[in-house]
Amino acid sequence: MIITPKVRGFICLTAHPEGSAKNVENQINYVKFKGSIDGPKKVLVLGASTGFGLASRITSAFGANAATIGVYFEKPSAEGKPGSPGWYNTAAFEKKAQEAGLYAKSINGDAFSDEVKQKTLDLIKADLGQVDLVVYSLASPRRVHPKTGVIHNSVLKPIGQTFSNKTVDFHTGKVSEVSISPANEDDIANTVAVMGGEDWAMWIDALKAENLLAPGAVTVAYSYIGPSLTEAVYRKGTIGRAKDHLEATAFTISDSLKDLGGKAYVSVNKALVTQASSAIPVIPLYISLLYKVMKEQGLHEGTIEQMDRLFRERLYTGGEVAVDEKGRIRVDDWEMRDDVQAQVATLWEQANTENLSEIGDLAGYRTDFFNLFGFEVEGVDYEKDVNEVVEVPGLV
Ligand code: NAD
Ligand code: NA
Repeated sequence: MIITPKVRGFICLTAHPEGSAKNVENQINYVKFKGSIDGPKKVLVLGASTGFGLASRITSAFGANAATIGVYFEKPSAEGKPGSPGWYNTAAFEKKAQEAGLYAKSINGDAFSDEVKQKTLDLIKADLGQVDLVVYSLASPRRVHPKTGVIHNSVLKPIGQTFSNKTVDFHTGKVSEVSISPANEDDIANTVAVMGGEDWAMWIDALKAENLLAPGAVTVAYSYIGPSLTEAVYRKGTIGRAKDHLEATAFTISDSLKDLGGKAYVSVNKALVTQASSAIPVIPLYISLLYKVMKEQGLHEGTIEQMDRLFRERLYTGGEVAVDEKGRIRVDDWEMRDDVQAQVATLWEQANTENLSEIGDLAGYRTDFFNLFGFEVEGVDYEKDVNEVVEVPGLV
């Protein structure tokens, strides 16, 4: 079929298999071009199909020649019904990995559930024996708690007071004022239950209990801080509480890995266009200004550049892992540079509907958004009839 984007607000209901494959290929080529990494050998990636998790999987496989198992929650493709982008990404990745002689298998299902955990443990046991890196990169709006059965829904709200600031509809470029009412205690608890560290710890406990972590095993989860501009709705809001919890969990997990000589890290990554971040008010405006400034200064990175730098220059240098005063790895260092933030803050004051496409990188934002779904990718013929039904070669 000929597949075109069907956009509804912050999501796109369709995805393009060839555009997604091309995105994956571009990421693989980036890592290969950078050369080999003396990195992990057997890697489990939770949230492996899009965003930072996909880039972590690509970096492990094509940078360090690692065997990878990916876990994700995606919609398979069917006759007349394109799959979700992560489905096509994984299909493309596993095809390339297997062609390169690399082990690559995956499980599609709810990573929060006991069932998917057990299935993953069994697969590691049967095929890899142990893993030496576990990447935790889930981003989800809800979690069914495996022990209580309670459904937790995360929210993106400020805490304590109503937050008002500028925001942009990135489709139309219209800049307007948005007001978000504060969260209540339930909102906070639910957001922490979904995006905090409890599930990460459950995964590591389960792997350890079955002796599936290699000596010296490392686990890493991803966090975000961002500037004072977005603080009320992000780092000091409900999602920030979840990130505080995730960051605190790294210390608990590290304690539990001491006997193995292992360690848990949180890496603070840069703000990027993903399905999750485009739904957060204020963030798209911040990102369009940030992209403009970082591209002008030659500092811009996408997910693959970020994850390549995380592996090559932080986790696997052969020496100590550089961390900040709170024990966190920082690959948001370029985003947070004083000169970058000062320029963004000035542009923020000026930004309006009339000038945004000039002073901000609205076009770059939109392109990145469509790219998430495999659209507007260079070198892809979108007029062409493509087969929407695509197999994921390593699907278990
Ligand atoms: P993403 O939406 O691109 O990826 C989420 C992944 O989780 C996908 O592979 C998806 O299939 C999987 N997933 C979601 N629910 C699942 C479930 N129930 N079971 C199994 N898999 C499930 O998100 P992302 O932006 O790459 O985010 C990954 C992490 O990075 C998050 O912790 C996020 O907060 C963090 N982060 C994001 C940004 C940003 O700007 N996007 C910046 C810094 C840190
Ligand atoms: Na991810």
